Amino acid sequence: MIKKCLFPVAGYGTRFLPATKAQPKEMLPILTKPLIQYGVEEAAEAGMLNIAMVTGRNKRAIEDHFDITYELEDQIKGTSREERLDSIRGLINECTYSYTRQVHMRGLGDAILTGNAIIGEEPFGVILADDLCVGDEGIMSQMLKVYEQFKCSVVAVEEVPMAEVNKYGIVSGQQLDERHTRVETMVEKPDPDKAPSNLAIIGRYILTPDIFDILRNTPPGANGEVQITDALQTQATQGNVIAYRFKGRRFDCGGIDGFVAATNYFYDKLKQS
Ligand code: G1P
Repeated sequence: MIKKCLFPVAGYGTRFLPATKAQPKEMLPILTKPLIQYGVEEAAEAGMLNIAMVTGRNKRAIEDHFDITYELEDQIKGTSREERLDSIRGLINECTYSYTRQVHMRGLGDAILTGNAIIGEEPFGVILADDLCVGDEGIMSQMLKVYEQFKCSVVAVEEVPMAEVNKYGIVSGQQLDERHTRVETMVEKPDPDKAPSNLAIIGRYILTPDIFDILRNTPPGANGEVQITDALQTQATQGNVIAYRFKGRRFDCGGIDGFVAATNYFYDKLKQS
């Protein structure tokens, strides 16, 4: 069983300025829950109850969210408003939370490597909270089954329009069946005319711990940053990466369109309930 899930949450969230000037982008709410909470719920559903966050400056609100707020809780104790805290109280009880800081913003690969200190040497999940995923079964739970079957790193993928491949890590390889591909080639944010396919990685990974040593030896790539995609290419060359077409839907909440679509999706669901 995989018990730990890493959340790289050190990024600035410049696409949402000025909203993210003094608060973490992960705390932006879809209805009443911040993005990060949806991610932690997905990890917990998969049984990954040890939550490991790689944070940065100005991210303290995330730590406070996953902790008791005495004064507020005392004020609303015994009132009908108290139940609004049920979901977060459940998560606080169910999971443990560990934090470490990424001091320099050197990319997702560097953020994941920073997490080595709290993950140790065992396989682990990674959730990028910007990508909000919904499905009858959580995406991380689905990926866990893929890991159990193949015992190697797993990335969640979906097809994107060719014109948008330069926003993603793109994979290609040997398709095993409708949902699984053994990855051979991975490229971070390729130009559309150089992309090996339109199969894009979305922000869900299960990584085997050898990734840390590989990351230590991975030079900066696209955008001058250490890319997890480049490190995964080393594992893919050994046949150790499976791309999994997940069942469900993903909203790119790192941008306004996806954020609004997710808001509408959850609002419609609320109205139907
Ligand atoms: C990161 C990864 C990229 C992946 C994407 C998914 O990019 O580097 O490979 O496709 O997340 O959201 P970012 O969105 O941080 O630029």
